[in-house]
Amino acid sequence: MCELRVMAILMCRPEHFGIEYEINPWMHVAVEVDHDRAVEQWEAVHSTYGQLGESIALATPVAGLPDMVFTANAAVLWRRRAVLSRFHHAERAGEEVHWRAALEGLGFVVHEVPAELSFEGAGDALFVGDHLFLAWGFRTDQVSHADVARLLDVESTSLQLVDERFYHLDTCFCPLDERTAVIAPAAITAESLELVRARVPRLIEVPTEVAAGFACNAMPLHGRVISSTASSALREPLSDAGFEVVALPMDEFMKSGGGVRCVSLPLDLGLS
Ligand code: ARG
Repeated sequence: MCELRVMAILMCRPEHFGIEYEINPWMHVAVEVDHDRAVEQWEAVHSTYGQLGESIALATPVAGLPDMVFTANAAVLWRRRAVLSRFHHAERAGEEVHWRAALEGLGFVVHEVPAELSFEGAGDALFVGDHLFLAWGFRTDQVSHADVARLLDVESTSLQLVDERFYHLDTCFCPLDERTAVIAPAAITAESLELVRARVPRLIEVPTEVAAGFACNAMPLHGRVISSTASSALREPLSDAGFEVVALPMDEFMKSGGGVRCVSLPLDLGLS
């Protein structure tokens, strides 16, 4: 009998999405979100995944928690374990209880980092194969990295973020397969870049201004790289590496400092 791993992507409809506070340099409460456009842009990501045969799990949006659309920040997941986010800013702390319930409902065993530490889930934690890259500098405390790696029982490397526009690792780094990743080198220290180079043989460097269009905030799926319109600039290097770019408008979410990857949390639901 053959066993199949069941995969899905966790998303959350932008029902209550808006800019109600400012916790990163992209957010300005004076800038209004066009709700219909946000829904359209989110639906385009959702239907792209569907067309590629991906299953979607939906978290229930909660009024008063406008950033719940960014499911990447729920937790970091590995096999059946989750390390729940503990948000750096009080504005997002109300999400934690909902993410715990959603992940437990999906069958994950949910762990937490020590109470005094902040850690923002897959926003600051990305796997290349079974090696976990963890970032610190803006949202996640460096000392939490050892706890996260221990709780998931994985090897990890800590990277330091240095540019506040790239306040989460997934805004400047995206593993595409076990040996390939895109990266905006200016967003991390030179030492951190060397650590990435040592682990990832094929690094596709993204100019800072392209990364500022959320091009690195991408979802690799079946040979495609789904990302914002800025990723059009990466068509050639990505096609040389064997990936096809799917560029989608994400400007309503960029007003909040998010792109395609932020609204997507890949789930490994185990063996069927
Ligand atoms: N407004 C959200 C925040 O500042 C955006 C989160 C984007 N998520 C991500 N994984 N980069 O927390």
